[in-house]
Amino acid sequence: MSDGRLEAFEARIARGDLVEADDWMPEEYRRQCFRLIVTHANSELMGALPEREWIPRAPGLKRKLSVLSKVQDEIGHAQMIYRVAEDLARPFGISREQMLDDLIEGKAKFHNVFSYPAPTWADVGVIAWLVDGAALETQGALLRTSYAPYARILRRICAEEAIHLKHGEDIVLTLASGTRAQRAMLQDAIQRWWQPLLHFFGPPDELSPNSERTFRWRIRTRTNEQLRQSFLRKYAPKVLSLGMEIPDPELRLDPETGDWHYGDPDWNEFWRVVKGGGARTEARLELRRMTREQQGWVLAAMADPTSAA
Ligand SMILES: [Fe+2]
Ligand SMILES: [Fe+2]
Repeated sequence: MSDGRLEAFEARIARGDLVEADDWMPEEYRRQCFRLIVTHANSELMGALPEREWIPRAPGLKRKLSVLSKVQDEIGHAQMIYRVAEDLARPFGISREQMLDDLIEGKAKFHNVFSYPAPTWADVGVIAWLVDGAALETQGALLRTSYAPYARILRRICAEEAIHLKHGEDIVLTLASGTRAQRAMLQDAIQRWWQPLLHFFGPPDELSPNSERTFRWRIRTRTNEQLRQSFLRKYAPKVLSLGMEIPDPELRLDPETGDWHYGDPDWNEFWRVVKGGGARTEARLELRRMTREQQGWVLAAMADPTSAA
């Protein structure tokens, strides 16, 4: 059966080598990388939408400019990541067009957090600080992925995410040191976002043969629970130090292990949201669908300038 290619591939990974787009790779490796990467691309594209709603309403020019440039960065991240996904998916006959079709038809997954509403300015701060903080945990760990083209673009993406985080932290600190009404608005936003943030990392990884290979092939390097704990270690103390409450009566630090114990985050809600049942999933996909229809002529003109007449 085996012609030795799989063994040679696994030996390369074990040595710490990276895999380039035109290297031979097992189909299952390609499939798993593609699934991870296209979900990331979809999430960047959909992730721009909650904050985009706030560009016209951001308080003052400085805040408007920083939300605007964050939204532009996220769309840029999506572009770079779809490009990597496109190369991976070519042997499967899946084009970028197909990926975007699957997204707007509700067939593709994206991160749970982008299906929730952002009703106040404090949500914008909490999203940029904590959602981008959570994303930086997962993307930071993926810098060590074995798929080289993804690792390369993640270096730039992580640098930009770190700036997003600072922009969010600045909004949050301003609100936390503001009036009673501003602090109450921040507390409400933390109330809304805490559970989606725990969900963001996904349920604890099962010990399935699939996930065993994911780690052996170094597609991912840290488990969902390791990433969630890393997030909690950094951000739970920061949120508490602002005098804000975290809406989980069971949350406590285990001084022995340094891990945070948290209450059952209701995984049914997570599954409902990632399967398309989030409060804003349909409306945001509709916006994406409309944008694609209205601006399709730009892409067509770029692909074939003679068609622009
Ligand atoms: Fe991003
Ligand atoms: Fe970001």
